[in-house]
Amino acid sequence: MRNVVFSLLVLDTFITSSSSIRKMCRLHRMTIFLTLLQLLLIPTYSVPFDEPHQDGKGIPKMKTLSTPSILRLDSRENGSEFWIKGGLDTLKKRLEVIERKGIAKNLILFLGDGMSIPTLAGARIYQGQREGKSGEESSLYFEKFPFTGLSKTYCVNSQVADSACSATAYLNGVKGNIETIGVTGAVANRDCEAMNEEQHHTSSIVSWAQAAGKATGLVTTTRVSHASPSGVYAHTASRYWEYDHPIAKLGKDPEKCWDITRQLVTNEPGKNLKVILGGGRGTFLPVTEKDPEYKNLTGWRTDKRNLIDYWIEDKKAHNLTAKFVWNRVELTKSEYDDSDYLLGLFEPGHMKYHMEADENTEPTLEEMTETAIKKLQKEDKGFFLFVEGGKIDLAHHFNFAEMAFDETIEFAKAIKKARELTDDGDTLIVVTADHAHTMSINGYPERGSDILTTLQPSDIDSLPYSTISYANGPGYKQNLTYPSMRYDLSHDVMNETHYQFPTLLPLEWETHGGDDVAVFANGPWAHLLVGNYEQNLIPLVMAYAARIGPSADIPFPKSSASLLNSNFYFTILTILFLFYFTFQHHCK
Ligand SMILES: *[C@@H]1O[C@H](CO)[C@@H](O)[C@H](O)[C@H]1NC(C)=O
Ligand SMILES: *[C@@H]1O[C@H](CO)[C@@H](O)[C@H](O)[C@H]1NC(C)=O
Ligand SMILES: *[C@@H]1O[C@H](CO)[C@@H](O)[C@H](O)[C@H]1NC(C)=O
Ligand SMILES: *[C@@H]1O[C@H](CO)[C@@H](O)[C@H](O)[C@H]1NC(C)=O
Ligand SMILES: *[C@@H]1O[C@H](CO)[C@@H](O)[C@H](O)[C@H]1NC(C)=O
Ligand SMILES: [Zn+2]
Repeated sequence: MRNVVFSLLVLDTFITSSSSIRKMCRLHRMTIFLTLLQLLLIPTYSVPFDEPHQDGKGIPKMKTLSTPSILRLDSRENGSEFWIKGGLDTLKKRLEVIERKGIAKNLILFLGDGMSIPTLAGARIYQGQREGKSGEESSLYFEKFPFTGLSKTYCVNSQVADSACSATAYLNGVKGNIETIGVTGAVANRDCEAMNEEQHHTSSIVSWAQAAGKATGLVTTTRVSHASPSGVYAHTASRYWEYDHPIAKLGKDPEKCWDITRQLVTNEPGKNLKVILGGGRGTFLPVTEKDPEYKNLTGWRTDKRNLIDYWIEDKKAHNLTAKFVWNRVELTKSEYDDSDYLLGLFEPGHMKYHMEADENTEPTLEEMTETAIKKLQKEDKGFFLFVEGGKIDLAHHFNFAEMAFDETIEFAKAIKKARELTDDGDTLIVVTADHAHTMSINGYPERGSDILTTLQPSDIDSLPYSTISYANGPGYKQNLTYPSMRYDLSHDVMNETHYQFPTLLPLEWETHGGDDVAVFANGPWAHLLVGNYEQNLIPLVMAYAARIGPSADIPFPKSSASLLNSNFYFTILTILFLFYFTFQHHCK
């Protein structure tokens, strides 16, 4: 309203003064005076009283509570030249980006489990600070990929996804129900009968690739029967049915309702996977057999089946060579042998966090990825490889932010290795996450502040709060001596791998987040993954690039160099019309 009045006054003043200033009467002089007054007052009124970004609020005033900043600022950052030049350099690089439109012989899908957008920002700052820089300006390797999009992760019956229904989406192109994998929304959680009906099965990009004669593989840091990798090969009404016992415990028959690991070694497309690397020996081995690495542990299966032996025997029966390895040394050796199939299970359960793993027995995600690619590259018709950085998610569930960041950095190393081993011209690499988490990076910490340990005071209770916090999870902290007071974080050691960052509410496990996740793509047709779309688009685009699966029938568009497109016709018609009317005018 004030703006309207103001505009009218300006207009009025303009008209009057331009007509004749000399004839200006007292009323008009008054108008000009009021207008000038308004102009002077504008700056004071333009910031509403309750603006959260109130002037000055963003200025860090936290010196005392915060740990020393790792400030290594480039003095050029204080000028404009640095930023303009940096921006222009990036602009020039973007102008050189080409949209590749050839056939993708190879496809690699990298899945950072729970790698939310704040996780990317946190991990990149943490990475930079480890290198002694301020951190914010750092980049994870894949953040430099030329094409980026956003995927919507909700499932058929859930606003926030779990790793099961999202795996069905980004690997099978279909959204299903939470906790189900490789089945449509018609299958309710734990519905064994519905799960066994063929019509409810979805088929994964691994099946599409195998049908086209491509080699396929999967690599993960979790159990190979965990929710995300299961999306590659399983059809199940419950992600928790990784071995027979959890099914029997529900009073269901594991012989009718097959567990995930049994599906992996027995059924298509799992049994055709040339490379399977990850954790999870427990779901392969019976309780009657000792684990090869930890003699004090046994397998988890109650049906007496040894599925590692089954997997080897099955390959032999088909005159194929197969190799099983359970430690890093054996894995390294396997790169040089020419067995057709490779199964590597490096822990009874999930593999350890990279920061806690024994580097003699456990390979890194990067090493597993390298072995897998080298094996699969021997095939003429190309390959599809699924690689999961699965422990980003697990770290978040415990509110272990530092380990979530470290796992994200390890994930980035694996992607870098994959890109180095392949060719941009024939390999489409897609990097994404299945769902977000509730971690946030908040406050106004000074530039270069330690991402883990910086504290700032609340302007309400003067007690400190940390830069990293979660909406929920086991990191909930209370002041038990004075329950009416907020917990005082100032004595916590926050740069310790098992530090649980503070949460708003207590939950045994921190939950996933419902926000969109990022998609980074490089290689043929990577540009199709720009924009905001449903998560199930991802495998359809990848399959399109490789001419496999449901998108193989959609032809590549005619070369864009061709002028025979609708824009061209529209332009010609417009010119013709203009000529016609001009001509008509001259005749009269
Ligand atoms: C953790 O933070 C403390 C205090 O900021 C610092 O003295 C110590 O060196 C840090 N430790 C590690 C392992 O970064
Ligand atoms: C940049 O300018 C600020 C004043 O805003 C000054 O305190 C700071 O030292 C300068 N930084 C560098 C790196 O020159
Ligand atoms: C089994 O042995 C390992 C060391 O080999 C030990 O770390 C672990 O705690 C033991 N587990 C059990 C259940 O005893
Ligand atoms: C495997 O090889 C043996 C001997 O060469 C042959 O008799 C048998 O039929 C083969 N089996 C399969 C499944 O190809
Ligand atoms: C609890 O509150 C009291 C009083 O403010 C304070 O002295 C104490 O350090 C607090 N303890 C914790 C764990 O926050
Ligand atoms: Zn999770």
